[in-house]
Parts: sequence; C-alpha cells; structure tokens
Amino acid sequence: MTGGCGFIGSHVVRSLLAAGWDVTNLDRLTYASNPANLAGVGPSAPYRFVEGDVCDASLVGGLVEGMDLVLNFAAETHVDRSLLDPGVFVRTDVEGVVCLLEAVRRNPGAALVHMSTDEVFGSLVPPLEAAEDTPFNPSSPYSASKAAAELQVRAYTTAYGFPATVIRCCNVYGSHQHLEKFIPLFTTRAFAGLPLPLYGDGQQEREWLYVDDFVAALHLIVATLPATPGVHAVHVGSGERLPNRVVAERICALAERPTSLIAPVGDRPGHDRRYALDSSGLRSRGWAPAVPFDEGIARTVHWYAANAAVWGGAATGEFAAYLERQYGARLAVRGTPPA
Ligand code: DAU
Repeated sequence: MTGGCGFIGSHVVRSLLAAGWDVTNLDRLTYASNPANLAGVGPSAPYRFVEGDVCDASLVGGLVEGMDLVLNFAAETHVDRSLLDPGVFVRTDVEGVVCLLEAVRRNPGAALVHMSTDEVFGSLVPPLEAAEDTPFNPSSPYSASKAAAELQVRAYTTAYGFPATVIRCCNVYGSHQHLEKFIPLFTTRAFAGLPLPLYGDGQQEREWLYVDDFVAALHLIVATLPATPGVHAVHVGSGERLPNRVVAERICALAERPTSLIAPVGDRPGHDRRYALDSSGLRSRGWAPAVPFDEGIARTVHWYAANAAVWGGAATGEFAAYLERQYGARLAVRGTPPA
C-alpha cells in the first residue's frame, strides 16, 4: 500500500496487520506523514516500510511485482493547501496514480484499490445525494486532481481491460489525523484557548465518518473485489451530515471551552456548501457505520487530549508557517458572526 504513515493509511496498516496481511508501506514521509502514527508496528510483524515516492516509476514497478493487492492512500489531501500550491496535488494525486496504473497493468495479478473522495462531485443542493454515476463537478484544485486521477483509472481499466476499485469517501475523522484538518485543528486550538477560525457562515455541511467505520468498509471492499474489467466505484458515507458550526460547538463542549472561541473568518475560496453520498450500494453488501458522530467525536477529542506526544503539541516549523499563511490575515480581520 501507499501512504501508510498518514492518518487513514496508518489505521489501515494496523488493521491489515491485525487481520494477518503481509504489508509493504510505501510512503514519502511528507509533512502529513507521521511515523509516530505507526509506533510499535514491526519489527516482528510481516511489515516492510519503504521510504519513497509514488511517482518513482522504477521503485513502484519493482514493489508491485508479485503483489496481489495495491491500496493507494498516498495523496496530498488538504483543500486549503491546494489553493495555495496546486502543483504538488497534480503531481502526487494524478501522476502518482498513473505511475501505479502503469505498474498494475504490467502485473495482472495485482488488484488496485484507489482512495478517492466525495469532493469530486462538488457541492450538492439538498436533498441530492451523489450516486456512483453522478457526473464530476470539482471546485478546488484538490478535488480536481482527485477527479483527474479517477479518469485515469477509468481510462486504464478500459484500455487495458483490468478491474480497479475506486472508493469515494466522505469526511473521515478520528485519532492520528494531521492538525491542519478541521476537527483536530479546532480541538487542539480549543485546548490551548486559541480562536477557532470558522470559515464563512459556518453552515457548510460535511458528512462525518469515524475512522474505524471506514476501515471496516475497506475490509469488506477488499474481501469482495469484482473481477470484471473496468472501474468499480464504491461510496462510503455515514449519512451524518452536520453544519461546521455545530461540529465546532460540540468540540468546545467536549474540550470544556466557551463557544466564544469560535471566530468567523473569511471563507475558503470556492467553498463547497454540502457533500452527500448515496452509500446504499455498500450498505446492501452488509456494511453500516457502527460509531455515531456523538460517540466518535468524544473519542477523538479525548484522544487528542491524551496524546500530545503523538500529534506534536504546539505548532512549530513548517506547520507554524502554514498556519500563519492560512490564518494570519483571516484572524486579524474577522468575519461577522452569524445572527
Ligand atoms: O470530503 C472528503 C474530504 O474531506 C477529503 O477528500 C479531504 O482529503 C479532506 O481534507 C476533507 O476535506 P474538507 O475540506 O471537507 O476537510 P477540512 O477538514 O479541511 O474542512 C472541513 C470543513 O471545515 C470544511 O467545510 C471547511 C471547514 N473549515 C476547515 C478548516 C481547516 C473551517 O471552517 N475552518 C478551518 O480552519
């Protein structure tokens, strides 16, 4: 697999090892990778870590040889960063996938499962939910790169006649997520009594899925991979769609901090109002989320409270510079709180 030192990837590595898989983890160790996420894994486990780039064709080609499953979790994932620096998203999220596709087509025994996102559909007006065949309508450089990657998977599987699975997932949250993302950012800033920069009116809706429920979905998907050539899309959504302000207030309550920390700031450019997946396909195969948001968010806030050593404590280095670039001016000029 690729990207196993990231948030979702590290949960996947642990779960695969627990299920008896032999895992090779290719990870470039970018800012978003955290080797501490896999502390304690190996050396006795059937686990091999390879530091390297998903765009390195000869490295990837050699690793895929003899594999029966390739899971792609390597990606640049943060929408805000894609607005600051889109080029790296095209490289890792599109070129990296092409590199994997080249390796997989040369190794017909290797099944490809690629991690995509509900963001490829752009913003959906209620009560719309995106079906597997809903047309793409991305609105950020990040989501456009993920849509482009999916088109490459579609083209390769059509042209060369092999099967591949694309997982489109809603917002996953839980332990070990990088602090740049909404829930860990607001949680750790709330602990520190710092303002919580809520974009725009805070009424944007995201569909939140606890990471253990994603992992359970992945195991089912991997256990029931289709053999027919072409791309097979699977939607993984919790159905729990909440406005950002509600999530921010829940975090404040769990962190025992006042909601006055919530600071409305200038909106994210092109900010999608709402994502919603129709996940009936996977549910009909036996999957359902087991952890409701109220429980998952409590577990998550408590994990961050107890594990500063893992997530790194106060922001320093690259992350501190990013926070200044992303929020410095926004927090200096706050938005108007909604009535
Ligand atoms: O929907 C799946 C996607 O979820 C994944 O494909 C992405 O890789 C992942 O980053 C996530 O994208 P979002 O943009 O939805 O996640 P983020 O945590 O950045 O933001 C969640 C919501 O919170 C979004 O509406 C923007 C808002 N937000 C976020 C940040 C970081 C704020 O209001 N303030 C913030 O400072």
